[in-house]
Amino acid sequence: MSPDHGELLYEGKAKRIFATDRSDRVLVEFKNDATAFNAQKKAQLEDKGRLNCQISARLFELLEAQGIPTHYLGLAGDTWMVVQRVKVIPLEVVLRNIATGSLCKQTPLQEGTPISPALLDLYYKDDALGDPLLTEARVHLLGIVDGARLSAIEQLARRINGVLQPFFDGLALQLVDFKLELGLNSAGELLLADEISPDTCRFWDQRSSDAEERILDKDRFRKDLGGVMEAYGEVLKRVHTACPDPRYCL
Ligand code: TMP
Ligand code: ASP
Repeated sequence: MSPDHGELLYEGKAKRIFATDRSDRVLVEFKNDATAFNAQKKAQLEDKGRLNCQISARLFELLEAQGIPTHYLGLAGDTWMVVQRVKVIPLEVVLRNIATGSLCKQTPLQEGTPISPALLDLYYKDDALGDPLLTEARVHLLGIVDGARLSAIEQLARRINGVLQPFFDGLALQLVDFKLELGLNSAGELLLADEISPDTCRFWDQRSSDAEERILDKDRFRKDLGGVMEAYGEVLKRVHTACPDPRYCL
């Protein structure tokens, strides 16, 4: 069931954004489309939209309860959420608590090496360029954000990691790494935007010691491991059972 909505404003790889009757709010629809490797690999995963929407909603509520500003305003259906309209900053902010993925492809770091404090990597959000890794100097050269804004982004990203890492640890899930996107609302406030889900995070199940079995995120799709939606379902189940309403159990 879709809520009343206005025109389609934007369609991305995993979500559609629709206008509402308020200029400062939009509706986000989470799609079942799965992509990897800059959309070179594509599939439809039944129920992914619902799982990512519900997981993200819970995590945004948890972060809000900890004083972290997000674009999230509420759920509007199984696959729909209402959010503040933001101008998305074209940065993908990745926090890494454990070395894996591109970090291990590009450096001699061993898979599974703990990283503390977390490594913060910035990527330029541009599909045509393949979201390249940035340096701080390149961020300034491109005029993406100024130094003060970049510091605020880094601080916010580390605070988010500081909430999410222990939260998932309590669910026997290792938060290996994750990607954030931030935006500015009409008042110029910096908010966490986009989503936080198994599409954008890596989770390793602490209840399994098998290097493939423990993967509960989009790496199951990227690496053709099967059981993708079962893994996402397990994450939602743990996020829900942890706390029926996170506002009252922190
Ligand atoms: P990476 O190891 O491939 O650089 O990925 C780091 C984290 O960022 C991982 O949790 C997956 C997430 N991610 C996205 O959300 N979108 C992307 O396009 C990529 C490449 C990674
Ligand atoms: N989100 C990216 C894409 O589609 C890549 C990824 O998550 O691996 O293509």
